[in-house]
Amino acid sequence: MSKTHQIAVLAGDGIGPEVVREGLRVLDAVRERFGFGVELTDMPYGTDHWLATGGENGGEIFPDAAFAEAQQHDALLLGAIGDPRAPVGLIERGVIGRLRWESGLYINLRPIKLHHERWCPLKDKKPADVDMIIVRENTEDAYVYPAEFEDQGGPDEIASQPMRYTRKGTERVIRYAFDVAMTRPRKQLTLIDKANAVRAQDIYTRVFAEVAKDYPEVKTDHAYIDAACMWMVKNPEWFDVAVTTNLFGDIITDLGAMVQGGMGVAASGNINPGKFSLFEPIHGSMPKATGKNTANPIATVNAVAMMLEHLGEVEAAQAVEQTVTDLLCSDRIKGLKAGVHSTSEWGDMVLEGLGELTRA
Ligand code: IPM
Ligand code: MG
Repeated sequence: MSKTHQIAVLAGDGIGPEVVREGLRVLDAVRERFGFGVELTDMPYGTDHWLATGGENGGEIFPDAAFAEAQQHDALLLGAIGDPRAPVGLIERGVIGRLRWESGLYINLRPIKLHHERWCPLKDKKPADVDMIIVRENTEDAYVYPAEFEDQGGPDEIASQPMRYTRKGTERVIRYAFDVAMTRPRKQLTLIDKANAVRAQDIYTRVFAEVAKDYPEVKTDHAYIDAACMWMVKNPEWFDVAVTTNLFGDIITDLGAMVQGGMGVAASGNINPGKFSLFEPIHGSMPKATGKNTANPIATVNAVAMMLEHLGEVEAAQAVEQTVTDLLCSDRIKGLKAGVHSTSEWGDMVLEGLGELTRA
């Protein structure tokens, strides 16, 4: 019997609604083709909603009832959050941060895959050289604790925000990364940290060594984050699966996105295995491009593929992935940057690739 998946949709700020629109067209096409149901719930939160409900004077960021409702869904598809009309970080922390931290989405899975060599800014690198998965911890580190300012604005001001790691948080992300490594032909896992300078990250060193004992088939490796950034550019082929802390994972996956062809293609899953999870492009909201139909929605389409996989619609996920791969390898594509092909044209091309546009 076919299933009906409950999907919350939070298109958010800037180009979010445009890229999500194309993602949903793709979802609709595969739903028909692979015979499963989808029920969508619109979550109209983001900077516009905050401003419309009062902004600085008590505007709503993510009302508790809606937040609880979102978590009743199987998954949430998110576009982008962030807008210069709101104070720095307010909506990001209140929407994406809250979803990640309070829904226990402890994995941020970020595949980095080059589809065709012409999209790689690195000389002589081929698709086989850029094919890795970064497993970013998603519920701890400097991100989740409030910033503290002593003597704010004064000459002796001290600002702090702790890089704090728990054993449970560390172990579960490392274990997940080993499991991911086991599914890959190379079975290689690199721990990326900065334990030489941030000694608190010694917990990653120790827990990684302990968990490794349960996975004798996985080849383990280690790189400090600074060196990992260098290798990502110099020898990306060295990486298969890598696990890292929240902040470093944020940084290295933007670098990874560029290596695979830019922010237009990089997707991510914020995952609580087997439970409510969130899927999103890793790019931001590009406020200046809002409403221009220029953003590349492929990252969102890839996020839809990751979501389908999470929902157990593996064939549909593979069909979307294959369609994207074929498209990015075809001569029709003149560039991945915003504006080379319009947002809706990208959507049309994916649908056509899926054999749906001609049928409609
Ligand atoms: C990301 C983004 C977020 C992060 C921002 C929007 C808070 O950059 O998902 O990578 O830093 O995690
Ligand atoms: Mg980021």
